[in-house]
Amino acid sequence: MKTVTCTAPVNIAVIKYWGKRDEKLILPLNDSISFTLSQDEMCAKTTVSISPKFSEDQFWLNDKKESLENPRIQNCLKEIRRRASKRKFDGKDENVWSWHVHICSKNNFPTAAGLASSAAGYACLVYALGQVYGVEGDLSPVARQGSGSACRSVHGGLVRWHKGEDDDGADSVARPIAPPGHFPDLQVIICVVSAGQKKTGSTEGMRQTVASSSLMQHRIKVSLPSRIESMMKAIEEKDWPTFCDLTIADSNEMHAVCLDTSPPCVYMTDTSHAVASLIHKYNDLKTDQGDINHKVCYTFDAGPNACIFTPGAVAKEVLPLLLQAFPPPPAQTPKEYVKGIASQPAPLSKELKRLADGCAQSGKLQYLIHTKVGDGPRVLVDPASSLLNTTTGLPN
Ligand code: DP6
Repeated sequence: MKTVTCTAPVNIAVIKYWGKRDEKLILPLNDSISFTLSQDEMCAKTTVSISPKFSEDQFWLNDKKESLENPRIQNCLKEIRRRASKRKFDGKDENVWSWHVHICSKNNFPTAAGLASSAAGYACLVYALGQVYGVEGDLSPVARQGSGSACRSVHGGLVRWHKGEDDDGADSVARPIAPPGHFPDLQVIICVVSAGQKKTGSTEGMRQTVASSSLMQHRIKVSLPSRIESMMKAIEEKDWPTFCDLTIADSNEMHAVCLDTSPPCVYMTDTSHAVASLIHKYNDLKTDQGDINHKVCYTFDAGPNACIFTPGAVAKEVLPLLLQAFPPPPAQTPKEYVKGIASQPAPLSKELKRLADGCAQSGKLQYLIHTKVGDGPRVLVDPASSLLNTTTGLPN
């Protein structure tokens, strides 16, 4: 029996993927760019075992036995086995691709919070399968067939998913464009907005947008080509203020095409808008003071949670600003309210306190996650980290 355990990160797009040109192969209408987040706070973990003695493929997700019939998982599995069957082995295990697999996966963050769990999950699954079946090379087009955004989670730092031109999707791949430390000491604050009713999922939402939104035509043909070029330049030149402006503009445009959809896809709530408004006021104040690098940006995926990117020095001010504007419910201690990197909130200036009080909404956020940007998937070598028993191949 061969067993491998891996972890893979969440990624947050700053130029959003929203809309497919091929539903089955998961080929996007546009290029997208993302930041991979640190695995210290959020990651998916997967153990895979293969053995000639297993009689069938089996799958456990978050401690529950699940069916493996899902076509997206099947496509990933088939493609890894196809690649493994083409591999030249030196005598041993040459039929390894035909061995059945046991897969056990867990997320260390709440799936219900809508925090890109499928991206981390599929990236982890494909990376672990690649390791156990001995498949080398670029696995991003395989992860893409699990969930589009998952292809960006196979790399760390800043990543670009090229939409590609080929009908078979061979050139629709994710490539790293800059390491995690490209913008030094970059931090991330995720504001988890209290869960409301379940929204339309990304797959269905983007399908409806492509079918019904005329604004989407403008996004694809006019705004995105120049925004992507400007974003690449801003990244290359480490131009943080421009990076922030473009990130905010793209998030707002994605939510605009969502609203232009029939029926409208409404993902942001009043609290989401209150967070966005606070960030704009903060940025305006700093610009008025002539400090343009003291800037933060927000972006929203297909849900109400804000993801805020901020340089470390600015986070010292932005975190207490958020705590002042969105104080925790009385029952919650500050430690329960702000998860992740431990930080001592600095006292707020009178000016910032006034700004926060103007947007105040007590108890509207469930909690904050304070994290960083980070690297790509990892193999865990410690046998104690395995989710499957290395003798039986069943969950521990
Ligand atoms: C809003 O990758 O979840 O997060 O390919 O249908 O599985 P499928 O969709 P998914 O869509 C993510 C959309 C987004 C923007 C982004 O991550 O680029």
